[in-house]
Amino acid sequence: MARYLVTGGAGYVGSHVVLALLDRGDDVVVLDNFSTGHRAAVPDAAALVEADLADGRALAEVFAAWKFDAVFHMAALSLVGDSMRQPLHYIRTNLGNSLGLAEAAVRAGCKRFVLSSTAAVFGVPRILPIDEAAPREPVNPYGESKLMVEQGLAWAEGAHGLRSACLRYFNAAGADPAGRAGEDHTPETHLIPRTIMAAMGRVEPVTIFGTDYDTPDGTAMRDYVHVADLAAAHLAVLPRLEEGSVAYNLGNGAGHSVREVIAAVERVSGRAVPHTVGPRREGDPPVLVASSARIRAETGWLPRHDSLEEIVRTAWNWHAANPGGYAGRVAQAA
Ligand SMILES: NC(=O)c1ccc[n+]([C@@H]2O[C@H](COP(=O)([O-])OP(=O)(O)OC[C@H]3O[C@@H](n4cnc5c(N)ncnc54)[C@H](O)[C@@H]3O)[C@@H](O)[C@H]2O)c1
Repeated sequence: MARYLVTGGAGYVGSHVVLALLDRGDDVVVLDNFSTGHRAAVPDAAALVEADLADGRALAEVFAAWKFDAVFHMAALSLVGDSMRQPLHYIRTNLGNSLGLAEAAVRAGCKRFVLSSTAAVFGVPRILPIDEAAPREPVNPYGESKLMVEQGLAWAEGAHGLRSACLRYFNAAGADPAGRAGEDHTPETHLIPRTIMAAMGRVEPVTIFGTDYDTPDGTAMRDYVHVADLAAAHLAVLPRLEEGSVAYNLGNGAGHSVREVIAAVERVSGRAVPHTVGPRREGDPPVLVASSARIRAETGWLPRHDSLEEIVRTAWNWHAANPGGYAGRVAQAA
């Protein structure tokens, strides 16, 4: 049986990775400070260490207490707007915590490291879909911080034998199809949960930022990838690490517009989505779509929940069953 460390395992993507590992019978240790995650998102079957990644002593204790086959590193600051206001804090935290974790892993002899990276490392793309050869030119400190971590990890392969997989997620969306986990961010900045909460009357109407883009319906298009498919990709890359470090773009390869998301939520829920129209947001690219051809070819990974309808339905089901998010939920068995 293998054992894995998941930093940020109480968060949105992390909790789904934890479920995927437990489902196949692996041992899991979650390290989280609950700054944006939820204790109730961590299944009882996972060991839980409440600690901040910046706490070097706590990290050393974790690596002394358990031997890990790989580290999945999801814990980070990840709000683009905040990063524009606090660039030094974002870059120092994401870079320092990630490299400190990688150093602790190397010291403990754990040589496999999977990083939650982001489409934001590419900035505003010149060619679509975005493949791994696209220039990495972040337009915000969040994307810059992840790019710096990717580069630090690349240097660690030659010097320390650390094999890394940098997984650049596009827009994670949806919820565990069995309803065990879902998305619960405060503030919620992601379109699908915001649209669902607007349909439920729990937040103000959704604003469509820009209706004059050069897209079929004039609204911006993004690549929504189901969070369970993202989780599966983390498992799929592990064998590939035997051959060396990799970086993969992770999306569905199809773009959906803001209006298409609103229409999908209306179809799935049978409710109208209150919305208003506003101007474009500065720095918002019209279309972001991934080419995930490389991870498909090299690992056999395939998105299984790739229709917008299914992504929205699983998210809707989770929000409907958990109207207050994780608050009030008791820790659940996997
Ligand atoms: N959600 C997306 O669409 C998306 C897209 C691209 C990349 N990512 C990346 O994926 C990762 C996970 O994203 P998410 O949406 O699940 O975020 P999240 O905020 O839901 O989860 C992050 C988790 O990390 C924990 N954490 C944060 N800082 C920590 C620290 N210093 N010490 C210990 N724990 C800490 C939080 O409490 C939380 O449980 C992030 O690294 C993010 O940059 C997410």
